[in-house]
Amino acid sequence: MPLPGITAARIEELLPVRDPGVPTYRWLADGLRLLIADGRIPLGHSLPAERRLSEALHLSRTTVTRAYAVLTESGFLSARQGSAHLANLPLDQHRRGVGGALLPGADSDPDALDLTCAASRAPAGTIEAYTAALAALPGYLTGTGYATAGLPELRELIAARYGQRGLPTSADQIVVVNGGLAGVNLAARALIRAGDRVLVESPSYPNSLQAVRRSGGRLVPLPVEASGWDLELAESTIAASKPTVAVLIPDFHNPTGNLLSDEHRSRLAAALRRAGTVPIVDETMLEVRLDDAGHPLPFAAHLSRTVLVGSASKSHWGGLRIGWLRVPPGLRTRLAQLRLTEDLGAPLIEQLATIELLRQRFTLHPERRAELIAARQTMAELLPTAVPGARWVLPSGGLSLWVELPESAATALARAAARDGLLLSPGSQFAAAGGLERFVRLPYKDPAPVVAEAMSRLGEAWRRRHEHADPGVRSQPRPVVA
Ligand SMILES: Cc1ncc(COP(=O)(O)O)c(C=O)c1O
Repeated sequence: MPLPGITAARIEELLPVRDPGVPTYRWLADGLRLLIADGRIPLGHSLPAERRLSEALHLSRTTVTRAYAVLTESGFLSARQGSAHLANLPLDQHRRGVGGALLPGADSDPDALDLTCAASRAPAGTIEAYTAALAALPGYLTGTGYATAGLPELRELIAARYGQRGLPTSADQIVVVNGGLAGVNLAARALIRAGDRVLVESPSYPNSLQAVRRSGGRLVPLPVEASGWDLELAESTIAASKPTVAVLIPDFHNPTGNLLSDEHRSRLAAALRRAGTVPIVDETMLEVRLDDAGHPLPFAAHLSRTVLVGSASKSHWGGLRIGWLRVPPGLRTRLAQLRLTEDLGAPLIEQLATIELLRQRFTLHPERRAELIAARQTMAELLPTAVPGARWVLPSGGLSLWVELPESAATALARAAARDGLLLSPGSQFAAAGGLERFVRLPYKDPAPVVAEAMSRLGEAWRRRHEHADPGVRSQPRPVVA
């Protein structure tokens, strides 16, 4: 099979304008490096032969040879198949800017691969979106710059997307916030009073659990298995506990990757309606769909008092820090006022860049999707060798495998892995009320070769887990960012 490749003509189109102050081979190498780093030359695609590129760019062949050599040396090209040069990302690029790196004491091993953050690098088109945002900025400079509920154009786009998904929505119902987690926090603050019972899934995204705790809510855990939600158990738990609020992640649930079907959404919504519960439904992972099946209706189509939380972090990039709430009309004023005491709005540039990105697509970039599918495949192929007896259900979306280990050893495994340059999140970090020590979350958010390296380190750590099982050794696992 021929290798997928990028043509010389396409490279010519994408390269930045020549800078006469920089040696030509350096300009070419820098330009290609950027194109590989932001995904416009997809990983694993072959670059044109040197002769062809030199003809297309009207450069000497030596110049192209030198540029390719610079990129090969720095790890941005690899020559694995015959003489073809394949786009590659050096391992250290995958670590750059990982969320945890900002936490105190978290940078102890600069060579570690970080699987504690289930998020990918920026997709192709991000730089163009920011460039367009900068170009649009002058039009806003004569105003105050505050858009406390979000720029009208962004709210219109987001509202229209709900309409496409079968949930008619007006822009007035949208409040733009600084990411999905900020949305969960805002909704939790608005809806939960100290002592209220709050239904949460277990496992769940730990930072949302923390948001509920901080609002004074008492957690009522609802188990989510690798196979999904137990609806009968959910119905009886809701009827018995009558929670004020339920925080749910029905769209590629983090960490299990489960998707709640339409039928089960409707049953769960009916149970919550009977109990008088207001659902906060976190759709942050919604667009990380890796199969071609249709998607169930938004939860608010089943229960209109639902507050939906959306985010551009997983469909596009976490660095945007843009998310939003879709609130029922009766809650709008309360949430908007609460927002005023919070942070007065999201940054303009990021909102403008998000408008550019969402105008092109709400869904995952096709190249990112292909990359995630390949990475998920690589992980599923290598995991049985790394951890014999491990079990998981391949999710149809999301960024992680939720893996059941053959023994309750996730914390010992994470400790051993940290010694082998692999940072892991044991299942207990996702538990609402303890337990889940038999599970580990393994994100496949990096390109396949990095996932393969991570699985090799995981195998080594699994073999040595008993050396790290000493309960006397107290070391906190790295906090989960995403
Ligand atoms: C379910 C869920 N909610 C919220 C977040 C945080 O998203 P954001 O970056 O939009 O704040 C994450 C990140 O992984 C998540 O998985």
